[in-house]
Amino acid sequence: MHRYDPAEHSYKDIYRLMIGAVVPRPIAFVSSEDKHGVRNLAPFSYFTACSTNPPVVCFCVAVRAGETPHKDTLRNIRETGEFVVNIVTEEIVMPMNATSAEVGPEVDEFVLAGLTPVASELIRPARVAESPFQMECRLRQVVEVSPLPGGGNLVLGEVVLFHIREDLLEDGKIDPDKLRAVGRMGGPTYVRTRDRFDLARPK
Ligand SMILES: Cc1cc2nc3c(=O)[nH]c(=O)nc-3n(C[C@H](O)[C@H](O)[C@H](O)COP(=O)(O)O)c2cc1C
Repeated sequence: MHRYDPAEHSYKDIYRLMIGAVVPRPIAFVSSEDKHGVRNLAPFSYFTACSTNPPVVCFCVAVRAGETPHKDTLRNIRETGEFVVNIVTEEIVMPMNATSAEVGPEVDEFVLAGLTPVASELIRPARVAESPFQMECRLRQVVEVSPLPGGGNLVLGEVVLFHIREDLLEDGKIDPDKLRAVGRMGGPTYVRTRDRFDLARPK
């Protein structure tokens, strides 16, 4: 086995290594608003669900090197305590990617990406109409994992309302062939969720 001591590598090298091995990662397409109501959208693949009672999802916003270490998403969520996580599907990978451009906080990324904002019911940030699975979230906690460049702030949000496209649901379960979720691998590579197998758990 190749021995790789992180203490001997830059965080950029470690990032390349980790995103190639921790795969595939689902993508949270996060909609937020600043305190003046300017909309923001951005994808985050350091993302998972971490509780079902109550339902809680979490994603990690990286700390940038340089003048503006904190991304708009984190600033907005800290200001308002609200956000929407939209699941990324094959149909919306192009606009999702467009919103990952580093643009100023004044830019409405729904407009930038040509996506349709639809009003949430319980919170202010809009949902992405083109996503078939949307979660309205209230902030529970921000955990500062590391303040260093390449470090991150883990955002935990309680899902206060799910919106699910009607045809996805069968017996309370999601049909993955209808959801067509995508995941992120290393570099610019993504995966579809079409090649699957079932495995029963041991009794
Ligand atoms: C598929 C994908 C996944 C990403 N995952 C993350 C992530 O987990 N954490 C992060 O900080 N940035 C991630 N990014 C980069 C952010 O989306 C990007 O920095 C974005 O401009 C942040 O937007 P904001 O400043 O409006 O919050 C990802 C980009 C793409 C395309």
